[in-house]
Amino acid sequence: MASVIRRYSPFLCRILRKSFHRDMRLVVSNLGNYNFDLRYKYTDASKYKEFKGKYKNSRPDVVASDSEDSRELDLDDSEYDAIVNSAMRVQKRLQDEQHVFIIQPYVKWGPKKTSTKPEHQLKEAEALVHSIPKWTVECALKVPLESLEKRQLFGTGKLEEIKASLKNLQASGKLITCVFISKGTLSFGQKQLLEQHFKLPVMDRYSVVIQILRLHAISIEAKLQVAMAEIPYIWSLMKDQEATRSSNRVYLTESQKQMLRVRERKLNNELQEVRSRRDLLRNKRKQKAYPTVAVVGYTNAGKTSLIKAFTEEKSLEPKNQLFATLDVTAHAGKLPCKLEVLFMDTVGFMADIPTGLIECFIATLEDAMFADVIVHVQDVSHENFLEQKKHVEHTLASLKKSVGHDEPGLSNVIDVGNKSDLVEDHSLLRKQHPNLQLVSSETLHGVHDLLMEIERKVLLTTGRQKIVIRVPMGGQEVAWLYKNSAVTETIADPQDSQRCLVSVIITEAKLQQFRHRFVKGHRTS
Ligand code: GTP
Repeated sequence: MASVIRRYSPFLCRILRKSFHRDMRLVVSNLGNYNFDLRYKYTDASKYKEFKGKYKNSRPDVVASDSEDSRELDLDDSEYDAIVNSAMRVQKRLQDEQHVFIIQPYVKWGPKKTSTKPEHQLKEAEALVHSIPKWTVECALKVPLESLEKRQLFGTGKLEEIKASLKNLQASGKLITCVFISKGTLSFGQKQLLEQHFKLPVMDRYSVVIQILRLHAISIEAKLQVAMAEIPYIWSLMKDQEATRSSNRVYLTESQKQMLRVRERKLNNELQEVRSRRDLLRNKRKQKAYPTVAVVGYTNAGKTSLIKAFTEEKSLEPKNQLFATLDVTAHAGKLPCKLEVLFMDTVGFMADIPTGLIECFIATLEDAMFADVIVHVQDVSHENFLEQKKHVEHTLASLKKSVGHDEPGLSNVIDVGNKSDLVEDHSLLRKQHPNLQLVSSETLHGVHDLLMEIERKVLLTTGRQKIVIRVPMGGQEVAWLYKNSAVTETIADPQDSQRCLVSVIITEAKLQQFRHRFVKGHRTS
């Protein structure tokens, strides 16, 4: 069974260098028919043209290409790289070590004060830095402020304190290569002023998260999305600079701006093509009628590990890193009743990620919104797990709205408390959160019970029922049932050697069809 397959067609391969397209992966396993769908690729040019024509015509926004647009998109464009590297303050290839000085600013009081404690925010900032292999945290500071909107962010007194800490560290022989201010985005003016004070490159949360996403983007869609997420950041820095006129230096020349616009348009077009293909796959999945179970949750909560526990799929590699999964991948598994389902692994959520950045990945979560059941994985060993839960629920609710689900609430959601092996007092947890299914993907404690609950919800939401049908041995009925329902067991009828008992999981509509076709002379029990 192929678990690593090339996912996309030649038209996408064309836009990437060979080194990129070697690692295009889609992990699927176990389920013959579904794999076949996903393995479908445009190996012959006429099929690809047909696909392209079909979807391009349905897109109203495809603009007539000018001479620049007609050049192929190059994700490794050195002119563009120079712009983005200077905006983000790091090399795109991330080969360099970084010794990071983290500053976590937070608002002390008032309406702008966040509910997340500053020590949790700081820990999350450290976890972000630890997610990049050659980056180390040299110092991490919390800095209370009255507002995060000041021109140079910190007041003069605070700024002097930070500079003194920085100098002390450097005097003691510590190498510091950059300052990471853990705030969504810094304005051009704030960045410039702080860099003048610290004499070091200054990064914000947006640019650090982009580095992590670049590292973990494997599929073409994820690579395109990361590339797309960089552009609004560059535009916003440029706008800030134009508004403040804080420097005579021109940040972007007219030709660079034009190049960015063309790149943005091409990325948009390519992404839309990839998404059209995903819609196609979703529809095929629907036709095949495999129930889908989306596994969602805060980053690092253990989504991939739980799917591994469900499916025993060896190729899945859980990582102790934030945003380890950027693609929605489908993994086939079986429920206790033997019904085959698809578990969908999704991109993790995180608070304080600028909307512009996460929006690029939201589309990948649309698949999850159409799932029959949503499993919300929560890391109960995390001190901040309730805040994380709220953040995920809030994002899911707005996502549901944005994809046109009118139904209020999320009735098909199962709340799962993962990493229970790291928590001592289960009874307290159960008392405080009676609806939480406690599991450990590590020890597999509670995993079977959770699968039973998923089965109950899947049968309920998809209108399926488990029944046993008595049919003639080797008759048309058996063949029909194999084709139109999930047959979980067939045994000889102990009371009639000419008949057999077929256990099936079947939808109401299919059961009606069966009755209509075969009911005379046959009996359901
Ligand atoms: P993202 O893709 O970054 O959103 O992460 P994820 O939610 O898919 O988490 P993943 O499964 O990659 O697990 C994150 C880390 O938690 C890994 O180091 C896992 O080994 C660990 N982990 C997951 N589940 C458990 C568990 O039940 N117990 C313990 N002790 N560790 C776990």
